Amino acid sequence: MAGIPATGAPADAILAALRDRKQGDRDWRHGRLAVYFYWLDEELERVQQQAYLAYWTENNLGQRAFPSLKSLEDEVIAMALALLGGDARAGGTFTSGGSESIFLAMMAARNRARAQRGVTQPNIVLPNSAHLTFDRAAEALGIEVRRVPIGPGLRADVAAMEARMDDDTVALVGSAPNYPFGTFDPIAEIAALAARHGAWMHVDACVGGFLAPYVRRLGHDIPAFELNVPGVTSMSADIHKHGMAPKGASLLLVADAADREWHKFESRAWQRGPYAAYTTQGTRPGGAVAAAWAAMNHLGDDGYLRCARLIMEAKAIMTAGIGAIPGLDILRPSDLGIFVWRASDPALDIGKVAAALDAEGWLVGRQQEPDGIHLHLNPIHREVAGEYVEAVARAVAAARGGQNSRIGANERTY
Ligand SMILES: Cc1ncc(COP(=O)(O)O)c(C=O)c1O
Repeated sequence: MAGIPATGAPADAILAALRDRKQGDRDWRHGRLAVYFYWLDEELERVQQQAYLAYWTENNLGQRAFPSLKSLEDEVIAMALALLGGDARAGGTFTSGGSESIFLAMMAARNRARAQRGVTQPNIVLPNSAHLTFDRAAEALGIEVRRVPIGPGLRADVAAMEARMDDDTVALVGSAPNYPFGTFDPIAEIAALAARHGAWMHVDACVGGFLAPYVRRLGHDIPAFELNVPGVTSMSADIHKHGMAPKGASLLLVADAADREWHKFESRAWQRGPYAAYTTQGTRPGGAVAAAWAAMNHLGDDGYLRCARLIMEAKAIMTAGIGAIPGLDILRPSDLGIFVWRASDPALDIGKVAAALDAEGWLVGRQQEPDGIHLHLNPIHREVAGEYVEAVARAVAAARGGQNSRIGANERTY
């Protein structure tokens, strides 16, 4: 096992080594990936990088020392609340990502039910399309997870969710949209159900928060999912996804700022003095806040609308093109820039199609159920939408014949 080198290397050599290491990585700048990244153009990239650098080592735990970070964070939260239906009562917390936002929401739901309803064996009820990060949070928090099969329209089955609830249900979840299919759950119905039972209702808008409002403005039919839907308690919305900020930026928004107290940790039982935090992190990167603020102010409403238009245009080109290739079909519905395509012809081996695409440099996201290929588009895909359709047609031609293969036991699909 290699240890820390005995003597350090010059800065130039270190930076050159990093550049070399990246040579084998995938070419995300040219739309060869439909997962993991969000990219518009070089100008936004420059804004993100320089804003991050401006606060590259400031610690956002230390807002006494860095009041500018507090003001940037407050402005980011206020902009998001204005976009996502928050009124004067609403509040929010800047987190490291969707998983942390969701963890805090589940922690708050558990703590509130414990304090107000005496619940000691908490459970949450969610559609089985909800992100697996809910299960990870629940495992750590001692919460039982009740996943409910989705209905035929790829949306949560609210009656089936109600059937799994009991007196120990502390939270219901709906996605806006979910990651496997890109469909919106019936948020208003789930929220009304939660309100009837006194349960917390979390809207997972990690993907949709900064995209869906703009897609709606373009004329697409997007159901109400915002904080002003009666019964909605909290919402996760990732700035590092369609908010177009670099990684490490998400928000947990609450319809009533008082509910933030349920995910606050506070103690005075320490020699060093009182300690309190609303996040799971202690030290927090100031760069992530500055870059999120910069991305939001640089893009503005018209910039986000442009991103939404590019994404929906890319989707229209891809779904029309792929749908026209004999032997393939598009899984429907899907509401935003996420969709799945698959083989409608049983003789066509989707595993071989995926391998042929991969060989051309397109990183493929295999969908497990139904067996297919998953795409999560961002603005750069508008430029390569036609190229992608042509690559799919070539991959299908290459894969014709042979036997079907399911996802291998050790194959990474995400
Ligand atoms: C719907 C949804 N929720 C939550 C998450 C988790 O977010 P993160 O990867 O930022 O922790 C994701 C990530 O893709 C997601 O798509």
